[in-house]
Formats: sequence, C-alpha cells, structure tokens
Amino acid sequence: MLGLRGMSADSLRALLGSTGRMLAHASYPGDVLETLAGRTVATVFFENSTRTRGSFTLAAQRLGAGVVDFSNANSTAKGESLADTVRTVSAMGVDAIVVRSSRSGASICAAAATQVPVLNGGDGCHEHPTQGLLDAFTLCEAIGRLDGFDLSGVRVAIVGDVLHSRVARSGAAALQSLGATVELVGPGPLVPESMGALLNDAGSIERDFDAAIGRADAVMMLRVQFERGAAVASTYRERYALTRERALRLREGAVVMHPGPMNVGMEIDAEVADGSGLARGARSLVLRQVAVGVAVRMAALEWCLGGVGACRP
Ligand code: CP
Repeated sequence: MLGLRGMSADSLRALLGSTGRMLAHASYPGDVLETLAGRTVATVFFENSTRTRGSFTLAAQRLGAGVVDFSNANSTAKGESLADTVRTVSAMGVDAIVVRSSRSGASICAAAATQVPVLNGGDGCHEHPTQGLLDAFTLCEAIGRLDGFDLSGVRVAIVGDVLHSRVARSGAAALQSLGATVELVGPGPLVPESMGALLNDAGSIERDFDAAIGRADAVMMLRVQFERGAAVASTYRERYALTRERALRLREGAVVMHPGPMNVGMEIDAEVADGSGLARGARSLVLRQVAVGVAVRMAALEWCLGGVGACRP
C-alpha cells in the first residue's frame, strides 16, 4: 500500500468498509482479533511519528500480530541504505514492513527491494495513504455518509501548506474518488498553480480563505512544514489560519479536521482544534481522526497480509 492515487473507488470503499468493521476492535479495551496471529509486522520509521507508528503498532497487536520496531536506532546512521535496511529486515522473516521516510518516493524504493508487503507510513511529499483513508472515513462518519461512502455534493477545503503535504496528496485523491469537490486554499508559494494537478475538473485553487470557508462542508487544515523548507509571510496567520474568529464563518454543521501534529497558534487556534470555540453545530474531528487511524491501519494490514476476513472488492 504505497499510495491512494490510482486506487479504484471500489478498492477505497472496500478498505473503508473494512475500517468500519474494525472500529469495535480498534478501541481500548476492545475485542482483540486473531486474524493475524503468528504474523509479524516491522515498523521502520526514519522520521518522527506519534500517530502513525503508534496506531500501526496497536493495529497489529489488536489483530494478534507481533510487532518489531526498527526505528531511530537502525544502521542507516552508519551509512546503510534504505533498500539494504529493508532487505535486512525482510531476511529476518517478517510479514509486512511499515516505512516512513522524509524522502519522497522512499516507500516505492522499499517495495522494490523486497517481496514482503510494504505499507507507506508517509514518505516525504509523496503520499500518506492510511492518513488519506482515515480522513475519508472520519468525514463520511461525521456527515452520515457511511452507507456507500459517497461524498457527492460535499465540498472540502484543504488549507495551508499543500506543497509539502503528503496528507493533501493522498486525501485529495481519496476524497475526489469518493465524489467530493476539493478546493486547495493557500498563498502562491504553498499552493502553486502546479498543485492543480491534484484536482479533477470540479476542483479549484482558492487564495481567499474567507470565501472558501463560506462554502465548505469540511475544512482540513494542514501544518506548515517548516522542516521541509516552508516559508510564510508575516500575514500568513491573518489570511490562512483557522482562528477562533474565522471559525465563526464556518457553515452550520461544518467539520474541522487536522491530521496532526498541529502548530497550535499558527495554522489553527486551540479552541478550534478542541472544538470549544466552535459555534452553530460546527465540530472538530481532530481526535476522532486519531481514533479512526487505528481501525484504518487494522484494515490496511489485513488488506496487505490477507488475514482471515480481509475484504477486497
Ligand atoms: N498525521 C501523522 O502522520 O502524524 P504523525 O507524524 O504523528 O504520525
């Protein structure tokens, strides 16, 4: 599972359906399934992660699999390549490898180096497929579209540092495949016209956040990724942050999303992120996204490992 671009709508819906069935088992305390009993999942994270690494670990455990973590203290620090690390981990006898890297396309290199299924836990500015799936599921759940996962007529504004965002790339692919209309919102340096390549004919690029917010059913805020070289003007917060004041412009019942980690006080205010500052039925889904992430990763692991009950179209 390297990306969502090019994945069929049928496959997306099958994974989302499997996610729904996993939810009861994903929570703690929940029923631990044994569909991956005796299997081993390796996590190889070359970049920091709280949500993705933690939820892949919990997902594997809640399917009965063992987990071995090769993150941080691995031999890449001595000059070993990503491909050699993946080959080495594979040679120990594992059933799946979850990879995260700051290099765009690293998951493709990893998959080319092994016969073991590779799941992309986020690679540079390329893709973050399980994040795209959990965002799609969480949105469908929040607005009552779980039956069929059909997002026709739903407008989603993806706001901020789209240029450096693998979340935006995977999310836009999934959301549009399910029928949503996507607007990419931000200043030229963070949402260049070339980002239009992520959009279908219904999608658009918008520079005016206040205009976009008035027509969005969901606003997905993105972290400004300073570590990837993002630079913002002094007016960025004024024009593109989801402040408490701007959140009052949200439509009735609109939802706020953020993949995390958040720059609180930069692209989003604390009272917006936790929902306490929202009005008119608007809701924050930030922590629900995290909870759904465990179920999505259970579905993804079963999908890739073909565990009992794995659902494919
Ligand atoms: N959203 C996300 O990928 O978070 P982590 O970096 O904590 O995994």
